[in-house]
Amino acid sequence: MHTISNKRPLRELLTDTRQAGQTIALVPTMGNLHAGHLQLVKVAKTKADFVVCTIFVNPLQFGPHEDLDAYPRTLGEDIAKLTSVDCDCLFIPAVSEIYGSDLSAQSTVQVPELTNLYCGKSRPGHFEGVATIVCKLFNLVQPNVAVFGLKDYQQFLVIQKMTADLEFNIDLVGVAIQREAHGLALSSRNRYLNDEQQQKAALIYQSLLDIEKRIKKGNLDFSSLEALAVQRLDDTGFKVDYFSICNANTLRAASKLDREFVILTAVQVGPSRLLDNVRFTLDKQ
Ligand code: PAF
Repeated sequence: MHTISNKRPLRELLTDTRQAGQTIALVPTMGNLHAGHLQLVKVAKTKADFVVCTIFVNPLQFGPHEDLDAYPRTLGEDIAKLTSVDCDCLFIPAVSEIYGSDLSAQSTVQVPELTNLYCGKSRPGHFEGVATIVCKLFNLVQPNVAVFGLKDYQQFLVIQKMTADLEFNIDLVGVAIQREAHGLALSSRNRYLNDEQQQKAALIYQSLLDIEKRIKKGNLDFSSLEALAVQRLDDTGFKVDYFSICNANTLRAASKLDREFVILTAVQVGPSRLLDNVRFTLDKQ
């Protein structure tokens, strides 16, 4: 695996790769890789000849009181894991390589509407930071395909919108959430949880499945269903940021006419803010 920290050698390697007729897939990450990330690389390998994974803990997407400094950095382990799945290239730039010396002077990318909802409401500036770094990586790597996990469902839609609006000629691939045996979605932030919190956090996915089941059985009283799930999670001692039944394409509050749904949730469990979702389709009545 090529391991590169600077933009120039990355561009040179990728120019050679393209000239050799190979297609390129990009897998952007913030490191602390788990089986979910490795699945992204595996899927990327089925979509292109040459896979570039990036590890960059992007300061622009963290708020002033968030966990930027504490975010787990495990480069040695990450390199071993990427090697085990035959990743072709790892790009691990320093913050100054990406943003120069003054982060506040950086031009940024704003995606309207979608970014005002849910995580965008709770984490102002977060999606601007995500869209900016993904845009930069798209320009640096110029991949044919880019692969993202669907645990960050809202993020995926934001990136889809940016890709379309800014005319990137890149196929986006969303990969299904990978879970622990008891259902908890894999996340780098699970690492902050103790054993008891890890076990209890399985209730998040159970609640999503329970509400999905009720909707499929014909209960379309979405506000009551949301309230029920929030109550159940609150009773366990979690702090629910949102639990929202939405149209899967627009992320607007679901209506009775919708057929494609996603239920999005963000829940604070001890030290970790955990995201999860389920997406499903209702058959036409
Ligand atoms: O999903 C993530 O890990 C990050 O938001 C991403 C897409 C790598 C951008 O920093």
